[in-house]
Amino acid sequence: MRDRVPSSEAETALVGPSPARKGSRSPRLRAMTAPGVPVVLVTGASSGIGAAVTRRLAAGWRCELLLNGRDPARLTAVAEASGGVPLPGELTTPEHCRALAGRALDLAGRVDVLIAGAGVGWAGPFTEMPPDDIDRLLAVNLASVLHLARALLPAMVSRGNGYVVLIGSIAGACGVGEEAVYSASKAALTAFADSLRYEVRPKGVHVSVVLPGAVDTPFFARRGTPYGRSRPRPIPPEQVAEAVYRAVVRHRGELFVPAWLRLPARLHGVAPALFHHLAARLA
Ligand SMILES: NC(=O)c1ccc[n+]([C@@H]2O[C@H](COP(=O)([O-])OP(=O)(O)OC[C@H]3O[C@@H](n4cnc5c(N)ncnc54)[C@H](OP(=O)(O)O)[C@@H]3O)[C@@H](O)[C@H]2O)c1
Repeated sequence: MRDRVPSSEAETALVGPSPARKGSRSPRLRAMTAPGVPVVLVTGASSGIGAAVTRRLAAGWRCELLLNGRDPARLTAVAEASGGVPLPGELTTPEHCRALAGRALDLAGRVDVLIAGAGVGWAGPFTEMPPDDIDRLLAVNLASVLHLARALLPAMVSRGNGYVVLIGSIAGACGVGEEAVYSASKAALTAFADSLRYEVRPKGVHVSVVLPGAVDTPFFARRGTPYGRSRPRPIPPEQVAEAVYRAVVRHRGELFVPAWLRLPARLHGVAPALFHHLAARLA
């Protein structure tokens, strides 16, 4: 479902490329944040898709960037290059999420856009998946998103303006073999986005979900299992970042990246038996 709605305050703040920004902003960000300039919190900003999103926003949108990731050195490097503020930290418990939201609000006074990019993978037979890995994956990929949204949405709703962009996955739309828990976490994000949109769209808050296929990032190396399919071929993270940018500034509700992935997702929805037959033959 696409979601195209009239311009909002944040879109009117789109005044073309922001000036080249070097060096992360000082803790005085709050005092320096102009009322019309959106404050964007990006999680997963220290690597891969989140880092590419940060670069895309810094290059093309007049906004203040608050950046979360775990690795302080990589996060600082992204912040230095984008002019964002690093807010390093884990997102594995509700307390972590509330603490991040609190730091962001304390620093900037508000968060207009939440881009929830932090995530981890796990591949292999579900029957062999260590229970702790199930909990860790669900905590980062799903629970952290819900808790961050829970902490930040009320103020967006009361201002009548805001954006939440979730990084889902084609795995959540179709299911992927030997990625059962990962697929479940991403399917839950899409369902969350669809449900939340009904609730907050009438109050001026947009919810988008971006569903990439395979993306060329450290994700696969970090999960310990390389990407093993010949297709779809991994795309550069910049392509996903472009979709995220479009989701925010053009208010798109759902974006597959690349766009043709919408077809298997729709086929899975309308003719699941045919989809499974074709998937088994093409695997
Ligand atoms: N790569 C793909 O093929 C693909 C496809 C579809 C969807 N996605 C989704 O895209 C998102 C970004 O993935 P990516 O490909 O960019 O992978 P990535 O390069 O491994 O980046 C993952 C990001 O999540 C952060 N993160 C992981 N665990 C965290 C935790 N416990 N607390 C806080 N932050 C944590 C990482 O922080 P540190 O680096 O500081 O540890 C990093 O910034 C994920 O949600 C992933 O599921 C990826």
